[in-house]
Amino acid sequence: MGRNYVIHTSEEIKRIRVAASMTAQAREQIAGSVRAGMTTYDLDQIAGEIIRSMGGVPAFLNYCGYPGNICISVNDEVVHGIGSRSRFIMEGDIVSVDVGVSFNGAVGDSAKSVYVGKGPVPPELQKLLTETERSLEAGIAAAHKGGYVRDISAAVEKVANAAKLGIVREYVGHGSGIKLHEPPDVPNFTMLRKGPELQAGMVLCIEPMLNLGTHKVYVEPDGWTVRTKDGAPSAHFEHMILITENGTEVLTRV
Ligand code: MF3
Ligand code: CO
Repeated sequence: MGRNYVIHTSEEIKRIRVAASMTAQAREQIAGSVRAGMTTYDLDQIAGEIIRSMGGVPAFLNYCGYPGNICISVNDEVVHGIGSRSRFIMEGDIVSVDVGVSFNGAVGDSAKSVYVGKGPVPPELQKLLTETERSLEAGIAAAHKGGYVRDISAAVEKVANAAKLGIVREYVGHGSGIKLHEPPDVPNFTMLRKGPELQAGMVLCIEPMLNLGTHKVYVEPDGWTVRTKDGAPSAHFEHMILITENGTEVLTRV
């Protein structure tokens, strides 16, 4: 039986740190470029330029045949939305940008959701954004050497449940660093098994996808775009963390 987790060498971690830091900068620049009136294709093109201007390569492009530079998911789209020339971003939308950067044989992966518009954020959307990000931070705070993957899941789940948000079950966080997706899974809900023990050198992506309605989702005919079944908006925040001997580091903070 193979190991169900990856411990990265210090040489790999050096490279992963750089890719993750580039990812964080790209994520902020891309999220800061979102404007009402542009199409999601425009945003995807801008994202490609930002990532390549740093010397990186968009990590999602061609991954399992994915056709975009990044994933752009608007309102009831949960994750994996593809930039489209006919999809205009509008005032009042929430837009999730999920960004992957490959550089020097390592990869970073990070996401955030932003509200588009000048006026005050509608309270329900503000709650969705705040609590989803808070659930990510709770997951990060629960991650430490000697604990288990399930500690992270439990912390995310607790915040989501308290806020009465639907937790997407079909998509989960994951190991990462050299390949975009490495073992183990990092679910946003608890399961019977506690998962691997957290050890120094593990790199994990924690990425709660929370819905203002039920947890139920479906995949569109394009084979990628995940939407909520009830049409309620969804938010997605993702950070990449490194477990070390003396604490947990977030590799995708700006
Ligand atoms: N952050 C997303 C994930 O971990 C990225 C999806 S990449 C895609 O699954 F290429 F599959 F879209
Ligand atoms: Co991810």
